[in-house]
Amino acid sequence: MSTYPQPAPHQPQQSSPTSNKPNSQSVSPMSITRLFEKKALGEPIVMVTAYDYPSATVVDESGVDLVLVGDSAAMVVLGYPNTTPVSMDEMVMLSAAVRRGLKTPLLIGDMPFGSYEASNEQAIANAQRFIKEAGCDAVKLERGGASADRAKAIVDAGIPVMGHVGLTPQSAVQLGGFRAQGRTAARGREVIEEALQLQEAGCFAVVLEAVPSELTEALMPHLEIPAIGIGAGPAADGQVLVYHDLLGIWNGRPAKFVRQYAQVREEMVRGVSAYAYDVRERSYPAPEHGYGMSPDEAHELQNWAESLPVAPAAGKLG
Ligand code: KIV
Repeated sequence: MSTYPQPAPHQPQQSSPTSNKPNSQSVSPMSITRLFEKKALGEPIVMVTAYDYPSATVVDESGVDLVLVGDSAAMVVLGYPNTTPVSMDEMVMLSAAVRRGLKTPLLIGDMPFGSYEASNEQAIANAQRFIKEAGCDAVKLERGGASADRAKAIVDAGIPVMGHVGLTPQSAVQLGGFRAQGRTAARGREVIEEALQLQEAGCFAVVLEAVPSELTEALMPHLEIPAIGIGAGPAADGQVLVYHDLLGIWNGRPAKFVRQYAQVREEMVRGVSAYAYDVRERSYPAPEHGYGMSPDEAHELQNWAESLPVAPAAGKLG
């Protein structure tokens, strides 16, 4: 696999490792070259999903390396029961919003179910939409096998591709549901072979989802490209989590591998409930929230309004 460059000498990019503060310093944009440097240096790669402008500004300011507009948007943003219904148009619209909020991380658009399987031509045309219409830097697709052929076609068309193996939600029904994959030696071998096919196809990185840590450890010595884990143990080169899971915005049951770093949904419900209470109690809006006019102007307006016909049921029900 020689599609991607070898590491160049390290140039510090993120905030000091001794600092817990969010990354607020000016940093150079993430590149695939820099990702390979990080792998070579053993620096963990941080990836997270985002789906709109505000979440993009949050993840950008937090100093992450990679941002994925995941097809998980289907469930966490659009309310579909799984990832398969989300369309290219929906994914492009969300990705373009994320692009507008990002400065530094590499932006990856997730190719939705039905957007790449039919032919190399279909895969290239839809990958191009992510680049041209949404401003993504790269795309991601799921599975090895025929998907590795699609990945190669997209890479050959000049678009960087990230692979995804293990639990691939677009084929969850075939995989027996949303459950860990590769827990037998035979199935583990299939997952590893798929990852190697994607590497061979020219992918610049691969996501390993919901696989035993032992599988990741067995795979790592054979991967030249960065492996980004989600429920794949600590041996991967980096980790990815879904934004709504890690911030506690999603009200579904989180997967075993999720660590919640905040409970934002609780805080949102608290805020909206407090607003509803204040409106009902007439304590909002308060005088400071209103606009005024001079007494003379108010008087003139009032006189004029009084000359208008009064609505028969104004202020009354029934
Ligand atoms: O769609 C998604 O969010 C993903 C990540 C979980 C890797 O594919």
